[in-house]
Amino acid sequence: MSGQEKFVEGFSKKSKAEKIRWLTAHYLNNDSRAVERLMRYWHTDKEIQERHENFIENTLSNYWLPYAVAPNFLVNGRVYAVPMVTEESSVVAAAAKGAKFWYRYGGFHARVLSTVKYGHIHFIYKNDPEKLKNFVDETTPLFMERLRPFTANMEKRGGGILSVELEDLRHKLPGYFTLTFRFETVDSMGANFINTILEEWSDYMREKYPDYGPAEDLDIVMSILSNHNPECRVRVEVEAPVEDLERQTGLEGYAAKMKTAFDMARVNPFRAVTHNKGIMNGVDAVVLATGNDFRAVEAGAHAYAGKDEGYTSLSRAFLENGRLVLRLDLPLAVGTVGGMTGLHPLADLSMEILGRPDARRLMNIMASVGLAQNFSAVHSLVTEGIQKGHMKMHLQNILMRLDATPGEAAQIRKIFENRKAHVHSVKEALEKLRKK
Ligand code: MEV
Repeated sequence: MSGQEKFVEGFSKKSKAEKIRWLTAHYLNNDSRAVERLMRYWHTDKEIQERHENFIENTLSNYWLPYAVAPNFLVNGRVYAVPMVTEESSVVAAAAKGAKFWYRYGGFHARVLSTVKYGHIHFIYKNDPEKLKNFVDETTPLFMERLRPFTANMEKRGGGILSVELEDLRHKLPGYFTLTFRFETVDSMGANFINTILEEWSDYMREKYPDYGPAEDLDIVMSILSNHNPECRVRVEVEAPVEDLERQTGLEGYAAKMKTAFDMARVNPFRAVTHNKGIMNGVDAVVLATGNDFRAVEAGAHAYAGKDEGYTSLSRAFLENGRLVLRLDLPLAVGTVGGMTGLHPLADLSMEILGRPDARRLMNIMASVGLAQNFSAVHSLVTEGIQKGHMKMHLQNILMRLDATPGEAAQIRKIFENRKAHVHSVKEALEKLRKK
C-alpha cells in the first residue's frame, strides 16, 4: 500500500474501534497483536479511561510512564516527598541523593522573585506612529473597562492586567509593533485567561480603529501569551562550609572543583546546554507529575538562558567566606489551579502529596528539585563519572530488553558489579550463561 490510500478524511469523527481498525489496516498489516497491545494499556475503570481519552484528539490507548517520589526535600524548612514522572532511569535516584545530601546543611532556600507573565498583540501599522500612540493611550482605559467581565474574578484573587505598553519594533521588521501586556495570574498558569484577554482586546482594536484612521492601516497578525517570562522567576540556593563538604565527600579540593565545573557551564554553551538539561531533568519530572505544561517550562528556561549575550547556565556556584553556594535562577510559569492539574487524577494526587501548595510554593519546590538534580549530576561528573550510577539502572533496562529471568538477572548483576555494562557485553554474558 502506498501514498494515497493512507490519506484519510474525517478521522477524528470515527469511533475509537474504527480508528484502531483503520490504523492497523493501513500501517500495521492488520496485526491483531498490535490491537491487543493498544488494548492492554486501556484502564480497566471506564470512567478513568474516558477521562484520559478526552484530554486529546484521536486517542487509541494510554502511554505509561513511571510515577515516583523523591523523599527528603527540605525546602524553606518544610520536608517534601516530591512526585516525579520521567522515563530516564537515573533521574529520581539523583534527585533523592541531592535532597538527602543537602538536608544536613539546612536544605533548599527558595524564593519567588515575581510571577508576572507576558502576552502580546502583534501587528503591522502603516500610518503615523503618533496617531497609533494616541489611539492606544485613549483606548486603553476604555478597553480595560470593557474587559471587566473577564478580569473581575482574577482581580478578586489578586491578579489581572498589570500594564499595557506600545512597543515599536520597526527596526526589526517594517511596520512591526506590539502591544505588550504584563499579567498577574496568581495560582493559575493563566494561559486561557491571558489569551482570552488578548483576543478580546484585539477585536476591540479592530472595531475602534476606524474612528482614528483607515481600517487597513492596522493589520493585527496574532494575539498570544509569551512563554518567555523572565520576570516570573524563582531563585533557590544551597550552601555548606567547604571544609565540611571535603570531609563528607572525602575529596580534597572538592568545592573548588565543583565551582570550576559550574563556571565552565557559564562560559561554554556546549557545556551550558547539557548542564541545563540536567536541571530540567528534575524540573520537567515534577512539572509532568503536577499536570503542568513541560513544553512551556522548557521553552521559557532555555529562552532565559539565552536572554543576554549567548547561551549560558541557569545555575552558578560561588565560593564565599569559606562556603560553597549553588544558586539556580529559573523562570517557571506554572499553576496549581485549572488546566490538567485538576483533571488528571494523579496530578491531583501529586498536589495532595505536596500539601496543596499555591503556585509560589510549587515554584519553590520545582526549582529545588532542579538544583538537586543539577548538583547530583555535576557531583557525579567531577567524581566517579556519570556512567557508574547510570549503568546500575541501565543494566536493569538491558536485562528487561533481553528477557532475562530473575535468576539470570541476579547472576548478570553480579558479573557487572564492578564492570561497565553495555548492551553487547550484557548480551554476550547472558548468552554464555544460557549455554551453560
Ligand atoms: C543526563 O540526562 C544529564 C547530564 O548530562 C547533566 C550534566 O551533564 O550536567 C548528566
